[in-house]
Amino acid sequence: MYRSRIKGCGHFLPERVIKNIDLLEFMETSDEWIQERTGIEERRWIDPLSGENTSTMGAKAAERAMKAAGVSKEEIDFIIFATLSPDMYFPGGGVRVQDILGMPTIGALDVRNQCSGFVYALSVADQFIKTGMYQNILVIGSENHSGGLEKSTRGRGVTVIFGDGAGAVVLSRSEDDSRGLLSTHLHAEGAHAEHLSLLAPNTGKWVDRLIKENNPEDTSYYPYMNGQFVFKHAVVRFSEVINEALQANGLSSSDIDLLIPHQANLRIAQFIQRKFGLNDDQVYNNIMRYGNTTAASIPIALSEAVQEGRVKNDDIIIMAAFGSGFTWASAIFRW
Ligand code: UT7
Repeated sequence: MYRSRIKGCGHFLPERVIKNIDLLEFMETSDEWIQERTGIEERRWIDPLSGENTSTMGAKAAERAMKAAGVSKEEIDFIIFATLSPDMYFPGGGVRVQDILGMPTIGALDVRNQCSGFVYALSVADQFIKTGMYQNILVIGSENHSGGLEKSTRGRGVTVIFGDGAGAVVLSRSEDDSRGLLSTHLHAEGAHAEHLSLLAPNTGKWVDRLIKENNPEDTSYYPYMNGQFVFKHAVVRFSEVINEALQANGLSSSDIDLLIPHQANLRIAQFIQRKFGLNDDQVYNNIMRYGNTTAASIPIALSEAVQEGRVKNDDIIIMAAFGSGFTWASAIFRW
């Protein structure tokens, strides 16, 4: 069995900055409400005229990750692409990235696990590397939320939270067995699927949409979140899955050098920080600048943390995520 490690990371964010007060153009809200409840100050939204989409952003992040890893596109064996906002209903974004980057006919797999998507994707990639099947895998998380949000007061509970962007890593076979990805831990509870969901389009509804006049009362084409219900589950599951990663490796919270939580809400990250007795240097947060970018949030945060020199050799790094599904997951590294 081989061990895998992250050889390089990259991220891409659209240039267009949407500050909280810019949202007043579409809805009744306030900078105070958004900052107090979520910690978000601004987010990036794609300029609709730019031609940017989930796949193009994913491809740019992937190029940067390959450059940082010193791995050429010819050396990549496989692509795993995580998103909840694909450019098309099908096919998924993985094949589009492969085409945009002009890569050979390697396989491309899409992961549909929303906020946990990147950690699930990392876990799948790890299995391919452990068995020796592949040596270098591109793992990408990318989201174009702004194209699908309900930009009105009715949708404000969801719309103010989400931002666009992409992050990617090259996961490679490690030459040093003592360092790399130690373990991943994956969970789901489908009983709560509809508490954070987008019901349409689906194979029952797309025909409806063609034959019926568009009904403005039909909110099923917009994301829905039962915020407080999700919040209560998130704090419990984040804690459980971080503990699970530590216990599986005989470690305790005092061993954590950096926790990279999925950027769902700064209040959730602060709750977890207090619970594990971590100081500010031990938790990476950038939700203030980018909002919640779902499958992209962990790889963007990791890429920034690496650029800022906050990830050093031999550090214990934990990534943890919770979101729609519900699904939750963690990955723990000795860097
Ligand atoms: O990434 C996946 C995982 N996601 C999460 O973990 C998110 C978990 N949930 C949350 O972060 C929080 O529940 C939210 C930030 C989404 C919402 O905060 P909340 O404190 O739970 O607010 P609420 O939904 O209970 O709404 C409270 C009030 C309501 O008004 P009334 O009914 O009390 O008069 C809302 O209509 O705030 C109102 N409200 C807003 N007001 C101004 C909702 N959205 C807004 C808004 N601006 N954007």
